[in-house]
Amino acid sequence: MYAGVWLLLLLAAGTLGVPEDEESRRIYLQFNPGSSSSAVNLLHTRAVGNGSTIHYVWSSIGAPAVLLIYTETEHSQLRLNWTKLLSPDPSGAIAIEPADSVLYSTALAFTRIFEYNDVNNTANFSGAAERYFYPSYDLSNFVWENANNTLNSSSLSFHLTGVNATDPTGSFRNGSISFKVTAYDRHGRDASSPRLLHTANCTKLEFQMSGVQPRGNRSRFALEMFTLEEKSGRKKKRSVRSIDDEYTPTIFEVIELVPDAPNASHAQGYFQWKSVAYGSQNGTRSDSLPCVVHGLQDMNGTLPAPSIIQAFYGEQLGSRYNMVALNVSFGIADGDFYDKNKYLVWSALVGYGTPPRDSFSVLVICIMAVALGLPLVLLIMGTILVWYLKKTVFTNYQPIN
Ligand SMILES: *[C@@H]1O[C@H](CO)[C@@H](O)[C@H](O)[C@H]1NC(C)=O
Ligand SMILES: *[C@@H]1O[C@H](CO)[C@@H](O)[C@H](O)[C@H]1NC(C)=O
Ligand SMILES: *[C@@H]1O[C@H](CO)[C@@H](O)[C@H](O)[C@H]1NC(C)=O
Ligand SMILES: *[C@@H]1O[C@H](CO)[C@@H](O)[C@H](O)[C@H]1NC(C)=O
Ligand SMILES: *[C@@H]1O[C@H](CO)[C@@H](O)[C@H](O)[C@H]1NC(C)=O
Ligand SMILES: *[C@@H]1O[C@H](CO)[C@@H](O)[C@H](O)[C@H]1NC(C)=O
Ligand SMILES: *[C@@H]1O[C@H](CO)[C@@H](O)[C@H](O)[C@H]1NC(C)=O
Ligand SMILES: *[C@@H]1O[C@H](CO)[C@@H](O)[C@H](O)[C@H]1NC(C)=O
Ligand SMILES: *[C@@H]1O[C@H](CO)[C@@H](O)[C@H](O)[C@H]1NC(C)=O
Ligand SMILES: *[C@@H]1O[C@H](CO)[C@@H](O)[C@H](O)[C@H]1NC(C)=O
Ligand SMILES: *[C@@H]1O[C@H](CO)[C@@H](O)[C@H](O)[C@H]1NC(C)=O
Ligand SMILES: *[C@@H]1O[C@H](CO)[C@@H](O)[C@H](O)[C@H]1NC(C)=O
Repeated sequence: MYAGVWLLLLLAAGTLGVPEDEESRRIYLQFNPGSSSSAVNLLHTRAVGNGSTIHYVWSSIGAPAVLLIYTETEHSQLRLNWTKLLSPDPSGAIAIEPADSVLYSTALAFTRIFEYNDVNNTANFSGAAERYFYPSYDLSNFVWENANNTLNSSSLSFHLTGVNATDPTGSFRNGSISFKVTAYDRHGRDASSPRLLHTANCTKLEFQMSGVQPRGNRSRFALEMFTLEEKSGRKKKRSVRSIDDEYTPTIFEVIELVPDAPNASHAQGYFQWKSVAYGSQNGTRSDSLPCVVHGLQDMNGTLPAPSIIQAFYGEQLGSRYNMVALNVSFGIADGDFYDKNKYLVWSALVGYGTPPRDSFSVLVICIMAVALGLPLVLLIMGTILVWYLKKTVFTNYQPIN
C-alpha cells in the first residue's frame, strides 16, 4: 500500500501541484460601444489583469469573427469609428489606444458552413466528391439577431445567432446557427461537455446548429474559418495527445493552432479544441461526434469579405500577415447523421499565453495508485495468510482416515 500512497503523492505533487495559474481578470462586457443602434452586433470584452488587458472584439459584421488584442497596460481603450466601420471600406475603423501598448494580436473568422450528402456513411469530408455537396452557407450574408438581448453579465456570456436570409428551401424556418461566447475571469473547468479546462486568459466559443433542416437525411457538416498571424510567425496545427480521463472519455486528442514563432519575445495567442462535437443538447458520450481538422491552406493574402478584421488590420494586411484557412468537419463513419437530432455543438477556446493542459485527474490518480498498490497489498496479505494457515490450519490437519 505504501507504494501506492507514494505514487499518489508524487503524481499529485507533479501534475496537480501548486496551481501555477491563480491569475484572475476583471471582465467588462459591452455591446456596440459608442453606438445607440442595435442593427449590427459588436461585442467588446475587456479582460483586465495585473498590468495587462486582453481585448476581444466579437462581431457579426461581415462574417462572424473575433479579434484578440493583448496590451501591456490596464488602461488601453477600444476606439471605434462607426461611420467608417459600416462603410464599404472599414479599414482603420477599429483601433486600440495607446497604439504602442499592443503587444500581440490575432483574429479568427467563420466564413462558411459546408453540407454534403454522405451517401456511404464514411464521414470522409475531404474525400467527398463535389457533386455530393449542397450549396454552402455563406455566413457573411446571414441575418443576425440583436445580441444585446442575449448578453448576460453574471455568466459573462452572449450569443450571435443568425439565419440564412435567402432561404428558398426553408431550412432555417425552425432553426438557426449560433456562436455562444463565454468569458472567464479565473481558472476552472466547464460544467458542460467536453468539460474544457480554461484560464482567465481565454474565452470559450460554442458553434451550434440547432433545428436547421438538413437538405438530405444523410447530411454532414463542416465549418470553414480563417485565422492570421504576423509574417514572422505562421500559424501551425499541433495535435496534443490528452489523457483519457473522466471528463471526456474516449477523446484522446486536443488540437491547437499556435504561431510557429520560436524567437517570439512574448507570449502569443492560441485556438484550442478537443476533437469532439456533440449531436445532442445533453452532450452525452453516445452523442459525441469526432471532428477532424482539414488544412491549413494558405490564403495568399486575400480576405474573403470586409469584416472587423479589415477594420482593425487595414487593407494591406496581406503584406504583413499570413492568413490560413481551415475546415473542421463533424461526424464518424457509420455514425448517426445530423438529421437524428438536428443538433450540433462544437466548443473551442480562443486565448493568450499557454494553452490549458489536462493533467491526470484525482480519480485517475486514485485508480492508478490502487492499481499499483493493490498487488503489493495482496502479496503481503497473501504471505500473512499462508503463514497463518500453515501455523493454524495445517498443523491441526488430521487425515480423515
Ligand atoms: C443594450 O441593452 C441595454 C440593457 O438591456 C440597454 O440599456 C442598451 O441601451 C442596449 N444597447 C443598445 C445599443 O441597444
Ligand atoms: C503584479 O505583477 C507584478 C510583477 O509581475 C508583481 O510584482 C505584483 O505582485 C503583482 N500584483 C498583484 C496584485 O498580483
Ligand atoms: C470616421 O470616419 C469618417 C469616414 O472615414 C471620417 O470622415 C471621420 O472623420 C471619422 N471620425 C473620427 C472621429 O475620426
Ligand atoms: C458508395 O459505395 C458504393 C459501393 O461500395 C460505391 O460504388 C460508390 O462509389 C460509393 N460512393 C461514394 C460517394 O463513395
Ligand atoms: C477519403 O477519401 C479520399 C478520396 O476518396 C481517400 O483518398 C482517403 O483515403 C479517404 N480517407 C479516409 C480516412 O477514408
Ligand atoms: C441560403 O440557402 C440557399 C440554399 O438553401 C443557398 O443557395 C444560399 O446561398 C444561402 N444563402 C447564404 C447567404 O448562404
Ligand atoms: C445569466 O446566467 C446565469 C448563470 O448562468 C443564469 O442563472 C441566469 O438565468 C442568466 N440570466 C439570463 C437573463 O439569462
Ligand atoms: C417547423 O416546425 C413546425 C412545427 O413544429 C413543423 O410543422 C414544420 O414542418 C417545421 N418546418 C421545417 C422546415 O422543419
Ligand atoms: C433517407 O430517406 C430515404 C427516403 O426517404 C430512406 O429510404 C432512407 O432510409 C433514409 N435514410 C436514413 C439514414 O434515414
Ligand atoms: C439526450 O438527448 C436526446 C435527444 O436530444 C434524448 O433523446 C435523450 O433522452 C437525452 N438523454 C439524457 C440522458 O438526457
Ligand atoms: C494560394 O496559392 C497557392 C499556390 O499558388 C495555391 O495552391 C492555393 O490554392 C492558393 N490559395 C487560395 C486560397 O487561393
Ligand atoms: C496570462 O497572461 C499573462 C500576461 O498578462 C501571462 O503572464 C500569463 O503567463 C498568462 N497565463 C497563462 C496561463 O497563459
